[in-house]
Amino acid sequence: MNNIKEHIKNRRSVRSFDGRELAKTDIEKLTSFAKTIENPYKIPVDFKFMNAKEYGLSCPVTVGTELFIGGKIKYTENFSVAFGYSFEALVLYAQSLGIGTTWLGGTMNRAAFENAMEMDDDQVMPCASPLGYPAKKMSLREIMMRKSIKADERFPFENLFFDSSFDTPLSKERAGKWRDALEMVRLSPSAVNKQPWRVVVSENAVHFYLKRSKGFARTSKLDMQMIDIGIALCHFDLTAKEGNLNIIFEQNDPKIESDAEYIASYRLT
Ligand SMILES: Cc1cc2nc3c(=O)[nH]c(=O)nc-3n(C[C@H](O)[C@H](O)[C@H](O)COP(=O)(O)O)c2cc1C
Repeated sequence: MNNIKEHIKNRRSVRSFDGRELAKTDIEKLTSFAKTIENPYKIPVDFKFMNAKEYGLSCPVTVGTELFIGGKIKYTENFSVAFGYSFEALVLYAQSLGIGTTWLGGTMNRAAFENAMEMDDDQVMPCASPLGYPAKKMSLREIMMRKSIKADERFPFENLFFDSSFDTPLSKERAGKWRDALEMVRLSPSAVNKQPWRVVVSENAVHFYLKRSKGFARTSKLDMQMIDIGIALCHFDLTAKEGNLNIIFEQNDPKIESDAEYIASYRLT
């Protein structure tokens, strides 16, 4: 997938579709791309297309499409972050084909979706998405929803990214080689647009943290904000690599004083 920054900038959650069925060629492209997706945790995600009528799926916030895609993953350490990374890679690829998506973790009849995914006992389906071609006009419900969660806004760069410690906000101007990749992290989608990603930049590495929002604790097997971190890692990794930064992924807590939870780092090689 080329032009990753364009796809990240152009993506938004699409909840109003134009009613056309997805072209067979587009389904084939999505299917073959899905097979190539890897995440830094090396935990595979299996994707499945599902028709709403066939499986009794419902999602009160979307109109104009019957097609959904779900992902299932083994319930193991780091599965939520891994899932966020892989599912977002598919979302961005769909965007590159002009196909609309919306991350869905809550506003759907989850039991029907999980049933349709035909999971093994040790698997979970953290999220799904509708698939279709965006309608020219958003439904009133979609407009209202975007307004109420301020979906078009993001926190300023300096509130999310820091220089060496959480005491020193990092400005865009001083972000140097990390600037583009961090700006793409800032544009990430997140559950209820809470933007829980925080990043501390040091000499040769960037460290990702999760700052939990109130009321967003992990419930049973679902951890939406940990998925958000996986999405941010995906945006960072793909943008940095397209910008020819040689980075490697690692989990090695730099022990920076913080009230946020350390998740992972990328280091220049
Ligand atoms: C993990 C996750 C779960 C989400 N769950 C839902 C959902 O259940 N219903 C919904 O309408 N949007 C859901 N969203 C979409 C967010 O509300 C949306 O990404 C955010 O408001 C930013 O808007 P944008 O995607 O248009 O940039 C979810 C997003 C993420 C990342």
